[in-house]
Amino acid sequence: MQQPDNIRYTKLPLNNGSGSIPALGFGTLIPDPVATRDATRAALEVGFHELDTAERYRTEKEVGEAIQEVFKAGKIKREDVFITTKLWNTNHRPERVKPAFEASLRKLQLDYLDLYLIHTPYAFLPGDEQDPRDANGNVIYDKGVTLLDTWRAMEGLVDEGRCKAIGLSDVSLEQVKGIFEAARIKPAVVHVESHPYLPEWELLNYCKNKGIVFQAFAALGHSSEPNLLEDPVITTIARRVNKTPAQVLLAWAIQRGTALLTTSKTLSRINENFDVSTLPEESMREISDGIKSRVRFNAVVETGVPGFIPRGK
Ligand SMILES: NC(=O)c1ccc[n+]([C@@H]2O[C@H](COP(=O)([O-])OP(=O)(O)OC[C@H]3O[C@@H](n4cnc5c(N)ncnc54)[C@H](OP(=O)(O)O)[C@@H]3O)[C@@H](O)[C@H]2O)c1
Repeated sequence: MQQPDNIRYTKLPLNNGSGSIPALGFGTLIPDPVATRDATRAALEVGFHELDTAERYRTEKEVGEAIQEVFKAGKIKREDVFITTKLWNTNHRPERVKPAFEASLRKLQLDYLDLYLIHTPYAFLPGDEQDPRDANGNVIYDKGVTLLDTWRAMEGLVDEGRCKAIGLSDVSLEQVKGIFEAARIKPAVVHVESHPYLPEWELLNYCKNKGIVFQAFAALGHSSEPNLLEDPVITTIARRVNKTPAQVLLAWAIQRGTALLTTSKTLSRINENFDVSTLPEESMREISDGIKSRVRFNAVVETGVPGFIPRGK
């Protein structure tokens, strides 16, 4: 068995001087609240030092409880953990940004955030209904606010010092460019779906050139079909280097210079996903050049309608 090395502790510097973000992050998009709390606590205890949640996931309360339990046990301090949450689509109006941010902080039981993301570039009808629909079942968008209007309000949160960095999620390259060029405080992180079936090389190169951290979600393909964990290129490398397919995918993401998020409610997998080792350059090339399939599992960037595309198992 290949021994783990220091790749799991990789950190990427943030462009606004507020420190760095751990490359290997744990996502909390887990539907069951008890499972969310248990998995978050386990992830912190195993060694994950980056947590990702969102107003929309309705997991902030459980994530906050898990964090506080671990802090109270004295195992980890606040400054050891990088915590991200996201502004939901119904709160894009500038006057709604700060109240939404403060509500998230309260649920998380925190007094500052490391990173606050605009969850998607699509503004929905403002209000408490997270998924506003018309009588025909279509999403009701809000045409009265631009992404830049929302970004300006996000900049205000950094000015107030309760949020160290801000960024964008589920955006196209063109949208990132637009905000980067107009922003007073540049996006520190761009958070998008990415894995070998959706490598997003052009966006990654743009981010690297501008000093923006590219953070990949669904790094294992979100248990969707076609199953990345069963891709013959991945399974062949896994056998060769004595690691699991998941560990191969996570190492690939870190070694190509991205941060990533993976999620599991299963303790053995949480352990497995932290136990990554550096891949040989030859394996990196086999994945980057040898996998030609292209699949987007989450349609939000293209359609504005959040959620993973249902596919057969
Ligand atoms: N901004 C956005 O729009 C957006 C969208 C989606 C996700 N995200 C964020 O990104 C995070 C990660 O996304 P994701 O949930 O799609 O991640 P993922 O790690 O690609 O997929 C998670 C799925 O993989 C399974 N899994 C995890 N480790 C495994 C392993 N070692 N072997 C086999 N299967 C394994 C999990 O199963 P079990 O849980 O059953 O173990 C779960 O079904 C989310 O939690 C969320 O924080 C953001």
